[in-house]
Amino acid sequence: MRGPRYVRCATCRARFTAARSTARYCKPYCRLAAHRKRARRSVHFSSENERWRTPAVVLDRVRLVGPIILDPCGAPDSLVRATVEFYGGEIGVDGLSCSWRLEAPGEGIVFVNPPYGRNIGAWLEKCAATVEPGLSVIALPPARPGSRWWQAMCSTATRLCFWHQRIKFIGAKTGAPFPSAVVLWTREDDVAERFREAFSDVGRVVAP
Ligand SMILES: C[S@@+](CC[C@H](N)C(=O)[O-])C[C@H]1O[C@@H](n2cnc3c(N)ncnc32)[C@H](O)[C@@H]1O
Repeated sequence: MRGPRYVRCATCRARFTAARSTARYCKPYCRLAAHRKRARRSVHFSSENERWRTPAVVLDRVRLVGPIILDPCGAPDSLVRATVEFYGGEIGVDGLSCSWRLEAPGEGIVFVNPPYGRNIGAWLEKCAATVEPGLSVIALPPARPGSRWWQAMCSTATRLCFWHQRIKFIGAKTGAPFPSAVVLWTREDDVAERFREAFSDVGRVVAP
C-alpha cells in the first residue's frame, strides 16, 4: 500500500498531505485565493474586457455634461457614437499615440472607456494632458485606489464619481465584478457643475 502523498500547495507553496491525487490546495482559503486571482486576471487583464461597451446609463449622463465629440478608444458597435472615433487594431488609428486636441472637432467632451490592460495609466495621463478651455474629458476606469495610475489620476482630475452599483456593461451577463468610477477633467466651472448634477444620483461626486 502506498504511504501519504506530499505535495506543494499551488497557492502558498506549503507542503501538505494530499487526500486525493487531484488535490492542489492545502486549505479552502488557498483554493478561494486561486479562484479570485483567475477571476481578476480574466476581468482586468484579458483582452476580453475590450469588448465590453459602455451602457446607455452612463452615456446618457455624459451627454448631459456636453456633446461627445471624440472617442479615442472606440468600437464600431458601441453606443458612444462620438463625432470622431478611433478603433485601434491593425487597420485602425492608434488612439493612444495621436493628439486628441488636434483630432477633436470643436468643443465638447472626449469620452474614454480605456482598455483595462497595462496601458491604462497612459490612457488616463492623456486625459489630463488633453484638457483645455472648451475641451473636457470624461473617463470610465475601474475604481482601483490601490494602483499607481489611480493615485496619479487623482492628482489631476477635477471631479470623480464612485458609481455605487456594479455597472452592467453591454455584452456582460451581470454587473461587473469590479467597481467603476467616472472621472472628469475640465477647466470650466459650469462643466464641473453639470457633471455633479448628472452623476450625483448614481454615486458620490467628489473633488479629489
Ligand atoms: C473598453 S472598450 C470601449 C469601447 C467604447 N469606447 C465604449 O465605451 O463602448 C475599449 C476599446 O478600445 C479599443 N482599443 C484598444 N487599444 C486601442 C488603441 N490603441 N487605439 C484605439 N482603440 C483601441 C478596443 O478595440 C476596444 O474597442
